[in-house]
Formats: sequence, structure tokens, C-alpha cells
Amino acid sequence: MSFETHDARERTKEIQAEYAEKGDALGWFDALYKEAAGDNERIPWADLEPNKFLRRWAEKTDLQGNNRKALVVGCGLGDDAKFLHDLNFKVTAFDISETAIEWAKKLHAATSIDFHHADLFVPPRVWLGAFEFVLEVYTIQPLPLEMRSQVIDAVSNFVAPQGELVVVTRGREDDEIPKEMPWALSKKDLSRFETNGFEQNSLMEMLGDEEPPIKRFVVEYLKQ
Ligand SMILES: C[S@@+](CC[C@H](N)C(=O)[O-])C[C@H]1O[C@@H](n2cnc3c(N)ncnc32)[C@H](O)[C@@H]1O
Repeated sequence: MSFETHDARERTKEIQAEYAEKGDALGWFDALYKEAAGDNERIPWADLEPNKFLRRWAEKTDLQGNNRKALVVGCGLGDDAKFLHDLNFKVTAFDISETAIEWAKKLHAATSIDFHHADLFVPPRVWLGAFEFVLEVYTIQPLPLEMRSQVIDAVSNFVAPQGELVVVTRGREDDEIPKEMPWALSKKDLSRFETNGFEQNSLMEMLGDEEPPIKRFVVEYLKQ
């Protein structure tokens, strides 16, 4: 039986709130993937397709992997990792949810993507400064605002000198207070990447087809 998108979003918020009450900002992801029991319709962001905003940006910029080493942060079921793999990147992808990683490995068994169960905040040391291309899609926005700088710093740490970083996120105005999870990023939030030694190469603003439409930013940075 198909699970309505609205129900999936409501249940996701419930699980997130249960964990938040216990002071746990991270445990709910695996709980949600587990409860979904293989039904991706129970995961609001998992549509078994590459992110459409990422795809638009990649088409516009004619993104090519050229065998570069890429890392996908918080990869979920791995569809963006597969997108990069098909563009000829050598892809490593990780998520804090072991259930998501096992699921992704099955979905993409025919690829050479190197999937790992890992926490952004305690990554394998060999990943630090090791990737020529790093992709982050919707991983910053579900983590509490109090952690924002810490999350941005952790993502920044994976990029090699002269490497590229692409962030796909919900966007908000600097003076807008986000009411509920996912907590969209403002340009002021994003400026922390510049503090971390990145130069912003481009920022695309797009609207989703939700009603009312939700703003997205696709931001490309180059590490100095
Ligand atoms: C909103 S989902 C987006 C998933 C995927 N990027 C996508 O767009 O389909 C956020 C993902 O980040 C993962 N995540 C959250 N905190 C993490 C952490 N500390 N380390 C690694 N992954 C994390 C979650 O398990 C979840 O899969």
C-alpha cells in the first residue's frame, strides 16, 4: 500500500521530535529508515532519482567527472552518488544511517560506488582534505540551527586544496526565522564556507514545484 507524502512528512517530524526531546539530533535518521522497512515512500526525500536541482545545475555547467575523486555526504539511498558515478566520478558515499547504507548498497550493487556507514563529525581521518569534488544535498538543513557552523565546518574539511564543493539546500532570507525542520539555509549561514577558505563560484536560486513553492540554492565553491 502506498504511503501518502503528507503522512511520511508528519511521521518524520514525529520521530525527529521524539529524539530531539531526548537531546539526540542524529538518532532519528536511522530510526526512520528502519521503520520504512524498504518502502522509500515513507522517506520524504527518497524518490529513487537524482536530486532535480543538482541535475539542472550539472546540465547547465556541463559537469564531468573525468575520474575525479568525489565524496557524497549524507548520501541516503545513494541516487546522487549514482548520478556522479554515471558522470565518470570515482565515488565514495556515506551516511550515519546503517540501514540507509545497506539499502543503498543493494540499490546500486551494479556500480563501483564505495558506500560507508560513517558520521560526518567523526569521519575516517583519511577522508580529510582528500576529495576533489564534495557533494552535500539536504544534509545541513535537518540538523539543528545550533549545530550549523559545526556541520558546515565538517563538510568543508573533506575538500582537497583546489577542490570543488557543491551544496544543494532549501534557501531562506537572512532575516527569516525558519519555523520547523528542515531548517533552510540563509546566505549568511552559507558565508561560513568562505570563512573556511572557499570562494563562491556560483549560486543558483530555483523554486520547487510544491504549493507554495520552496526556494532552493545550489551553490558551487572552490577551495583556495
Ligand atoms: C534529508 S536526508 C537527505 C539524504 C540525501 N542526501 C538525499 O538528498 O536524498 C539527510 C541525510 O543525512 C544523513 N545524516 C544526518 N546526519 C548525518 C551525519 N552526522 N553524518 C552522516 N550522515 C548524516 C541522514 O541519515 C540522511 O540520510
